[in-house]
Amino acid sequence: MSQSLRDARRYEEARERLISPQDRPAFHLSARVGWMNDPNGFSFHDGQYHLFYQYHPYDSHWGPMHWGHAVSPDLLRWRYLPAAMAPDMPYDQEGCFSGSAITLQDGRQLLMYTGVAEEIGPDGVPHKAQTQNLAFGDGTDYVKFGGNPVITATDLPAGGSRYDFRDPKLLQCEDGWRCIVANDQIGEGGRMLMYKSDDLTHWWLERVVAENRGRMGLMWECPDLFTLDGCEVLLASAQDMLPKGFEYHNGNGTFCLLGHRDDNGDYVWERDHALDYGIDFYAPQTVLTPDGRRVMIGWMQNWDTCNLHVKSTPWFGQMSLPRELSVRNGRLYQSPLRELEALRGPLVQYDNVEIENGEIGLPGIRGRMVDMEIEIEPAGGELFNRFAVRFAKDAEHHTGFSFRPRESVVKVDRKFSGSRRAIIHQRRAKVDHENGRLKLRLILDRFSVEAFINDGEKVMSATVGTDQSAQGISFFCDGKARFKIRAYALKV
Ligand code: FRU
Repeated sequence: MSQSLRDARRYEEARERLISPQDRPAFHLSARVGWMNDPNGFSFHDGQYHLFYQYHPYDSHWGPMHWGHAVSPDLLRWRYLPAAMAPDMPYDQEGCFSGSAITLQDGRQLLMYTGVAEEIGPDGVPHKAQTQNLAFGDGTDYVKFGGNPVITATDLPAGGSRYDFRDPKLLQCEDGWRCIVANDQIGEGGRMLMYKSDDLTHWWLERVVAENRGRMGLMWECPDLFTLDGCEVLLASAQDMLPKGFEYHNGNGTFCLLGHRDDNGDYVWERDHALDYGIDFYAPQTVLTPDGRRVMIGWMQNWDTCNLHVKSTPWFGQMSLPRELSVRNGRLYQSPLRELEALRGPLVQYDNVEIENGEIGLPGIRGRMVDMEIEIEPAGGELFNRFAVRFAKDAEHHTGFSFRPRESVVKVDRKFSGSRRAIIHQRRAKVDHENGRLKLRLILDRFSVEAFINDGEKVMSATVGTDQSAQGISFFCDGKARFKIRAYALKV
């Protein structure tokens, strides 16, 4: 083991002890210490789930990328393992960037990741070149392959940038192995390339899976590709997006492409839509559970705001809730992992609550670790103007979701969360509803909220930094509405 990995392991073990579990999310994985970004190597190996992550243990800001590591029996109760990789080789000295994991037939776990190394470009200036690399391990300790890198710029099709070539997603197929790698096609933006291998060490380009052609942002990152409910699905994250109506927003964003394969095996993409309409969500990856569910986890953060906190923050960065995916009505639906129900305390239920032009609280409904299912409908003849649920609430603070049926818009608003930065505090999504009827499931976990709208047709995620003493939850209506609520305190 290299000195850098040994140092990182010693450091994280000592520093983690200084962080109280109460000061982290309870069932969302957060950085063991320091900084976390993308989920990596999300897999089921040797009887448990493994989730690795982009990790800079020494600082709560992004830096030389290591791979952090945690395992879980149920994707909700996580146990940290020692850091899996450090940037300690000539081909990854600038960072071990994102990648994936599979289990080999001989029981070993294989990681495939992007190594970043500085090289002097034809312009005489240093650039960071990216290659794909392997590491073999037993589920805790990993040895980088002696023949690394296994995919380099020489394997790129014409026009591909060697400086933006990353995030391999490994797929075990009946006829060998494949991996999907993101690449910048200079002048056209991101594309996803599929490589094939019979022995894991020699790879050749099989096909281009998807091309941006200036549609969605510039560079694409972090691909995932799978078949679900008879549909081909590509997940991707795009940098530098421009808004498209309410569908995509400025900056980094996520999207899926849905389609099929033609007789040549080529991918034909028919539809696209955003994966999350909230503020904080990026770089998702999926795992296939032993019982056949496709479950997705993303990094619950926003690249444009994530380096604004003070450097001494002991941990920064958390994952989203694991979400079960399905394809229905030409869309990718997401619902909270069903194992979450095992964390529910007693049910608090109200069936017919009416509010007219005011704000109310309900006995038994409060807290920052809560699962709430709310069904809203108009009461009386006229459609209400706005219905809102507010939480992380005290006299000065609240964060909330509001629904304006006349505009068919749900908005998340965290401007009263205690934030002192001119960052994005609000985001809106268009929603379908029948004359003011809307279903909303909200999951709170101390520092975040995730809203599943209309049984997961759309999801909105946001981090919420409000002090944990703000435990209030209230309901507001401009106009007259009626709602049902089933709420559960969550406990790990
Ligand atoms: C996405 C990303 C990846 C890269 C990693 C570096 O958030 O930019 O493309 O591998 O983060 O930390």
